[in-house]
Amino acid sequence: MKRVLLVSVATALALCCGGGAVAAAVAWSRAGLDTAGQVDFRNPLKVPPLAQSRIDGQGRRVFDLRAQQGRTDLGPGQPTRTWGFNGDHLGPTLRAKRGEQVLVNVANGLPEPTSVHWHGMHLPARMDGGPHQEVRPGATWSPTWTVDQPAATLWYHPHPHGQTARHVQRGLAGMFILDDENSAKLPHEYGIDDIPVIVQDHEFDGGGQIKDSGDTGDTVLVNGTVAPYLDVRTERVRLRLLNASAARTYSFGLSDGRSFTLVGTDGGLLPAPHDMGRIRLSPGERAEIVVAMKPDKRVTLRSFPASLDNPVSDRFAGGRDTLDVLQLRTESDLARSAEVPATLAPIERLDPADAVTTREFTLSGRQINGRKMDMGRIDAVVTKDTTEIWEITKEDGTPHSFHVHDVQFQVLSVGGEPPPAELSGWKDTVLLAPDQTVRVIARFADYADPDVPYMYHCHVLKHEDAGMMGQFVVVEPGQKPGRPDTHGHHKSHG
Ligand code: C2O
Ligand code: CU
Ligand code: CU
Repeated sequence: MKRVLLVSVATALALCCGGGAVAAAVAWSRAGLDTAGQVDFRNPLKVPPLAQSRIDGQGRRVFDLRAQQGRTDLGPGQPTRTWGFNGDHLGPTLRAKRGEQVLVNVANGLPEPTSVHWHGMHLPARMDGGPHQEVRPGATWSPTWTVDQPAATLWYHPHPHGQTARHVQRGLAGMFILDDENSAKLPHEYGIDDIPVIVQDHEFDGGGQIKDSGDTGDTVLVNGTVAPYLDVRTERVRLRLLNASAARTYSFGLSDGRSFTLVGTDGGLLPAPHDMGRIRLSPGERAEIVVAMKPDKRVTLRSFPASLDNPVSDRFAGGRDTLDVLQLRTESDLARSAEVPATLAPIERLDPADAVTTREFTLSGRQINGRKMDMGRIDAVVTKDTTEIWEITKEDGTPHSFHVHDVQFQVLSVGGEPPPAELSGWKDTVLLAPDQTVRVIARFADYADPDVPYMYHCHVLKHEDAGMMGQFVVVEPGQKPGRPDTHGHHKSHG
């Protein structure tokens, strides 16, 4: 199968480009980047500050975010023009507890419209920050909702129609950590033994500027730090891995072959920890891992070849590459850490017998079910308080990463097989394997709104921007879907 694909791609290239180009294209598709052992890890890892918040008269936890332009030293030898929230690049870490009501004032200090989407958050559609909640330059948008889901590593990023790759690659991304009583059983001292690891890859032009067309790059940054190291002073460190890259899929592991403990995925902690050697994350996915440290050591968090599909498509998603990401350093004294508990957070399994419908989604050629995104079209109408099965298949030889807003889902099967450990917990984004259907189940528990849709889409950002996205509304039983606003401009107060 793989060979056939490769030959057909080569044939296609031969038809359009001639034989020499074929040889070059195949060689180019096979050669991966390899930076193992070559990164000098000269910079201490930057840790995004925790966002300040206050409690208002109504008991809501209030945050302020302002998207703005800035300049940052990202390593290419001259300052890079970047975008950030409340700073030059990336954004502060928002943190809230389950049960709290939050309000975020999102101010747009950019010269163009943007939006801020709370990736992984269960919340009303008009608070979701997708393309229908655009914030105009100079305006402020203030969504509010109650955090009603387990502790998790979520994130936030813009979602303006057709412009997401550019906004995220310039630096508009941050983490949103949710806490509950279970997450406190793991290392949880922010910046000490609980570390955000926001991974993005960039390619710089000759002038040191980010190429923001949504492709993979050859420089990996963690929290906006090039060649980063982290001094770990505890026996165990919890890394909150976020793939905030536009197109690259990573397969994270440790350079000395030691295993790590997977404790959480997109939407929360696993029922039990799982020791493993590699964790693959496609764009948008997260994993929480705990790494046991040894004294006086240097070990590198590395991305190994993720082998996604076939050699040609691997080239576009980095599937052949080996990349050094972050060095963890210890000295002789390590403070004691509690062991990882044997049970973490119970997950009630959703029962396929409760599903009211099974929907099919086929991804191919920047379309889903043969259609490109249309902001005025509702693609699926879901009834509130029901459970649905979604069957997702991709039919082209390109890696795609399927993401659903509003809900966390459970993976029922991948290619007919039960999901591996890393897909056994709450998920909102899943990498699609070639020729295999991924079946997921979700409960759309609340927040009906016939007029304002949620999105589902490929999280490879340029696929999303090119139209690989659809819209669903959640309605009350018997209610008809309304008409979404097609221009996307939120009536914001400035
Ligand atoms: Cu992370 Cu619809 O996005
Ligand atoms: Cu999302
Ligand atoms: Cu895609």
